[in-house]
Amino acid sequence: MDLSTTYLGFELPHPLIAGASPLADTVDSVKRVEDAGAAAIVMRSLFEEQITSEGLATNSSMDTHAESFAEALTYFPSPEEFVLGPHEYLEQIRTIKAAVGIPVIASLNGTTRGGWLDYAKLMEEAGADALELNVYVLATDPDEAGDTIVRRTVEMVSAIKKAVKLPVAIKLSPYYSSVSNVAKQLDDVGVDGMVLFNRFYQSDIDLENLEVVPDLKLSNSGALLLRLRWLAILSGRVQADLAVTGGPHTAIDAIKAVMCGAHAVQMVSALLKKGPQHIETVRSEMAQWLEENEYESLSQAHGSMGLLKCPNPKAFERANYMHTLQSWRPE
Ligand SMILES: Cc1cc2nc3c(=O)[nH]c(=O)nc-3n(C[C@H](O)[C@H](O)[C@H](O)COP(=O)(O)O)c2cc1C
Repeated sequence: MDLSTTYLGFELPHPLIAGASPLADTVDSVKRVEDAGAAAIVMRSLFEEQITSEGLATNSSMDTHAESFAEALTYFPSPEEFVLGPHEYLEQIRTIKAAVGIPVIASLNGTTRGGWLDYAKLMEEAGADALELNVYVLATDPDEAGDTIVRRTVEMVSAIKKAVKLPVAIKLSPYYSSVSNVAKQLDDVGVDGMVLFNRFYQSDIDLENLEVVPDLKLSNSGALLLRLRWLAILSGRVQADLAVTGGPHTAIDAIKAVMCGAHAVQMVSALLKKGPQHIETVRSEMAQWLEENEYESLSQAHGSMGLLKCPNPKAFERANYMHTLQSWRPE
């Protein structure tokens, strides 16, 4: 069964990618991911705060918003808590690239249009095949309107696209007033891919010590539904390739994502739980399902449940919400 796809300009034998995670922290681990058959791998992120705190992002042609860090830095993880510092990150790209043949996607993670974005160029020079920009942001400032945040994000992508030749994807959150409009604006500045969506990890409260404590729970397939809806809504409406992250664990999950418009399926929790070899299980089960259901290739299924092609587009819109509320019955 032909499962091939293209993502960010790469011809991939299938859409299954190892998403940003500790899976790229060591060369051994990356080799295991490649041996398990992953079509590409995304490195964990290098954070704006890491770069800025090292004071490496000076002499930039891009605007800086250094003042916004002053407060954040007081609650900032110590440098030792990061697996890779900025220099080590670039070195890690070189080492990984020398060790494996699959596309290696570096990840930059931040929220402002500052000199730290110069790292995109450094990542390109270090040999990254593509860049994923993660713009995870919590909009807590009541004086900052949503469109200001969106404009900043669009400017960041635009600045990176001007600075580098490699393909640039953006990893988005679902919490915009209009995801569709944000996607259109990013599309207009030429972003090559959109990765839907960041998971928003909720902190817990430690009552004894009166502390906010991080709480990272790995996902399950339930997280996928939000992504499927937005993949379907954006499919065919943006030039950028679409990738899903958040919830794909099984072959059925992956096929659903592709049918809704995903060109690539990023997996993290599933691989952390089951090991990289799970990729081969998902790949072969995808092929089997498509065969049994008389598809000739994965591309034949691609986007078939997108809003523009779906037999009932209203199923993804407000009508679905009303149906959902009306359809509940007591057990
Ligand atoms: C331990 C761990 C570390 C992660 N580190 C990053 C990171 O550095 N950058 C990033 O964009 N996403 C990071 N993620 C998020 C994943 O890339 C992915 O988006 C998320 O886990 C949802 O996908 P999943 O349901 O397949 O796990 C991390 C996830 C985990 C579990």
